[in-house]
Amino acid sequence: MTSYSESPLIPAASNRPGDDPIFTLHGEAVRRAGLGEDILNATLGALIEDDGTLAVMPSVHEALRRTPLQKASAYAPISGPPDFLKAVEHDVFGGHALESKCVAVATPGGSGAIYAAVNNFLEVGQKALTTSYYWAPYDILTGLSQRGIATFNMFGEDGFLDLTAFEKALFAILEEQGRALVILNSPCQNPTGYSFNDDEWRDVCDIMAKASDSGPVTLLLDFAYAKYAPVGGADWRTHVERILPKVPTLVAWSASKAFAQYGARVGALIALHEDDKVRARIANAMGFTCRGTWSNCNHMGMLAITDVLHDEDLRAEWDADRARLVELLDARVVEFNKLAEKHNLHYPRYEGGFFVAVFSDDPKVTIKYMQDRGVFIVPLQGAVRVGLCATPKSKIPRLVEVLAAGVEAARKTVAS
Ligand SMILES: Cc1ncc(COP(=O)(O)O)c(C=O)c1O
Repeated sequence: MTSYSESPLIPAASNRPGDDPIFTLHGEAVRRAGLGEDILNATLGALIEDDGTLAVMPSVHEALRRTPLQKASAYAPISGPPDFLKAVEHDVFGGHALESKCVAVATPGGSGAIYAAVNNFLEVGQKALTTSYYWAPYDILTGLSQRGIATFNMFGEDGFLDLTAFEKALFAILEEQGRALVILNSPCQNPTGYSFNDDEWRDVCDIMAKASDSGPVTLLLDFAYAKYAPVGGADWRTHVERILPKVPTLVAWSASKAFAQYGARVGALIALHEDDKVRARIANAMGFTCRGTWSNCNHMGMLAITDVLHDEDLRAEWDADRARLVELLDARVVEFNKLAEKHNLHYPRYEGGFFVAVFSDDPKVTIKYMQDRGVFIVPLQGAVRVGLCATPKSKIPRLVEVLAAGVEAARKTVAS
């Protein structure tokens, strides 16, 4: 019999970490800054102005301010307000033919969308396939419902996506579990900053179409950073449209970065399928997940985002607000690339986005070296993640200098 002093939690929940590792690192950076140290905190994934305050969009605040409170106070429809869903679909497809082949449900941010996708497109015990560098919460979003993550080596020797590794892993997972859910995060992948080019999208889609002869393959595109894509970047829609008859596609859409509204928890899961009847079944399944988890989402947030997307004037203001933030971030990317090259840092192609991953022989040594000098970034496997989103441009020289020395310290440790 379990004694009263033992944990009443089930074994799987008994030893959960109390905080997300990135928030823990952030907490330590804030604590030391509070003691008066000159701390450079490049841990979190929120865009910060060069003066250190959170970057926000006045257009979105205006929409929130003018949202009818009576309407916002009511429950939202479980699958999301139809106008909101239409607006989001249009934001993603912008009149592309794919817009007529999708259904969507509202989710609490992109996180909710990923959770809903995993719960409907994988059986318990199965794993989603993603790149070897990936956003760490995928582990929790899949693990909580007894699914998991499998990975393929992300970069080949040439620095491009390792398509050979992808193909091999996809066929292996299909053989093992009879179905595959492939999670890809592009543009501006977290944590590497990598955006697939047109050739990579074409080849990835060809591989998935080929693999779908061996079992159902579904693509989940994590679209969290879509609005920060490099100018003239690849159009994934052309390739997805081509393989849609064989590979249904999901898009995890998020208002967090696109509207600088991290706290509003507005998101959507969009599903593309050729067949009307299957689409209706997918919509029902996704709505069922909504009801069984968060029930319905933040009504005020969804009404405000709908207003921004629908109202011509507000939309124009949002375009301008966004352009300013993209410019703010892009200036940091240019500065980082210039200085990183000078210091001979190794990292994947970086053309925009909140983060970049820099390779290190021993990330723990690099992180410790940097923290001792007041610079906080995030360790990964074989690399470290630098949040340029949270680094004012004037602080990038310090960041790169300490980072380069930290990478060198790791190299020496491993070589000795
Ligand atoms: C790669 C990636 N996907 C999805 C999300 C989901 O964000 P949210 O749940 O705030 O929409 C994030 C947020 O940091 C992210 O970095």
